[in-house]
Amino acid sequence: MRELINKDECWCGSGKKYKECHFTIDEKLSKMEGEGLIAPPREIIKTSEQIEGIRKSSQVTKKVLDMVAERIRAGITTDEINTLVHEYTLELGGIPATLNYRGYPKSVCVSINEVVCHGIPDERVLKEGDIVNVDVTTIYKGYYGDSSRMFIIGKASEKAIRLVETAKECLYAGINVVKPFATFGDIGHAIQTHAEEKGYSVVREYGGHGIGIQFHEEPFVDHCAEPHTGMIMIPGMTFTIEPMINEGTYRCKVLRDGWTAVTADGKLTAQWEHTVLVTEEGVEILTA
Ligand code: MF3
Ligand code: CO
Ligand code: CO
Repeated sequence: MRELINKDECWCGSGKKYKECHFTIDEKLSKMEGEGLIAPPREIIKTSEQIEGIRKSSQVTKKVLDMVAERIRAGITTDEINTLVHEYTLELGGIPATLNYRGYPKSVCVSINEVVCHGIPDERVLKEGDIVNVDVTTIYKGYYGDSSRMFIIGKASEKAIRLVETAKECLYAGINVVKPFATFGDIGHAIQTHAEEKGYSVVREYGGHGIGIQFHEEPFVDHCAEPHTGMIMIPGMTFTIEPMINEGTYRCKVLRDGWTAVTADGKLTAQWEHTVLVTEEGVEILTA
């Protein structure tokens, strides 16, 4: 029976024989499932054609953020950032993914100071000392790319700068553990360890996510977790890592607009995000 199965085409869409493709990976996954870990569902493993599409989309996202980096300054409104992102995305042949996503009304999220995520652009003016997250998600030829960066407006306080830098280190601490047969728990553990070492807390209510064919796919990527737990990584998985790091409590609340998440204590928060791909060698940062 096994022989028959092994002559079949692999389930992954490579066109190769199963035995010469995912057979060894599946065997290792079964063994790890025996240790209580979770094998990734086959639907979220991307084909090389899909990966190329997600890579291109992620590069559009990167270009849009590069443009924002050049234009953001004290005196600009968040609505003006929204217009810049909207128009440049269209110019590059993409569609802003957040616009009308589950009723979200704008083409970008702009989250200032105590805003954890999903800040809605409006007539608010950025001022010297603000720390601002700009989160861009693009649909390009049907594929999704998602990334966010922090921007420091003019001269900010030492503690704000330190928070922004630590949040970036947390993102890379997470990215650095990505490789075949590592677990999503390893990502959360690396991030949490680094954040707590520096005296910060990690938001739990929001996390990273599978991405590519849809905006939010499986799995939920916890930024707070135990090592060697949860879902197992294998090549062809695409997901975001996007830790939100807080000065005070990790707790958040959502404003009456139904979107804007703020820290429960009003203290500062910072976030950086990349879309990544698990490769045979380790990781490729698609939005870099
Ligand atoms: N870009 C955000 C993320 O990283 C999601 C924004 S959804 C929106 O997952 F509707 F708020 F725009
Ligand atoms: Co995002
Ligand atoms: Co995301």
